[in-house]
Amino acid sequence: IVNNNWLIGLPKAELHLHIEGTLTPEQQFELAKRNGITLAYDSAQSLRAAYEFDDLSAFLALYYQGMDVLITQDDFYDLAMAYFERAAADGVRHADISFDPQAHLARGVALDTCFDGLLTAMRDARAQFDVTSALIMSFMRDRDADEALEVLEDAAPWYGEIAAIGLDSAEVGNPPEKFREVFARACELGLPRVAHAGEEGGPDYVTGALDILDVCRIDHGVRAMEDADLVDRLRDSQMPLTVCPLSNVYLKGVARLEDHNLPDMIAAGLNVNINSDDPAYFGGGMVNNFLACVAAFDWDQATCRTIAGNGLREAFMSDARRETLL
Ligand code: HPA
Ligand code: ZN
Repeated sequence: IVNNNWLIGLPKAELHLHIEGTLTPEQQFELAKRNGITLAYDSAQSLRAAYEFDDLSAFLALYYQGMDVLITQDDFYDLAMAYFERAAADGVRHADISFDPQAHLARGVALDTCFDGLLTAMRDARAQFDVTSALIMSFMRDRDADEALEVLEDAAPWYGEIAAIGLDSAEVGNPPEKFREVFARACELGLPRVAHAGEEGGPDYVTGALDILDVCRIDHGVRAMEDADLVDRLRDSQMPLTVCPLSNVYLKGVARLEDHNLPDMIAAGLNVNINSDDPAYFGGGMVNNFLACVAAFDWDQATCRTIAGNGLREAFMSDARRETLL
């Protein structure tokens, strides 16, 4: 057994984290009870046993079903605070957390319920756990672009609280160009942009995210490695790639972490950091992701420090905060 205290002590930032993906089976049951909702499983254990995914869409079905228990501002607050507490215990000192407003609006949960709960938790997490955070409002790419545009306009009261907009959910068949207008509008509003690309979609999705959506980060990006010119471009621009090692294993992007191209990405000089994506579903948080990489790729402490530093440098945080962590 490796002593992982040094890994916990290493200041880390998490840049690719879906707050709804931090909902543990136990908390799902707790919130279901509080809200008088009956779940389709008889216990947290049997729910966890159902977490066996063949691909992204199999995961997304359970993921969007799971978040049905999030109804009130307190639910969003408790969800985020539970994540921040676990993240703090993992030595995560900053988190860029994303949420999917459309998944909640579609269930009749108002935008201010989400924002108020999450923003209050973000403020309290800084005071209680010394974890700073930034909020990414993500759009679901399998829904209409018109709807995303409407949500973007409706979020006007919170533009000052949003670090960036994002793009997630089912990738293949929903290419970046579908969201050209949405991202152009966000650009006009001065909102930074990130997007999932090259998770299940091919390298053309990454190129599209760069050329059409004008993103400042690529979430995942692992399939960019299939296009040598794109790799050159990503290296030359030092575009940050928020890779999620355990997520890629759990969603069968690779059979085993040993087969992951993360070492090739690092060797190619790409600006990669690692993240947990949906820690309640994909084998845990940042420390588990680092430990899995240490085991699979024989990373030494210097490599872990480099990767953690990459995350700290690219996170949406103030320079003053960054200086205290780097
Ligand atoms: N990919 C796309 N959408 C998501 C993911 C992911 O890994 N996690 C939560 N929503
Ligand atoms: Zn993701």
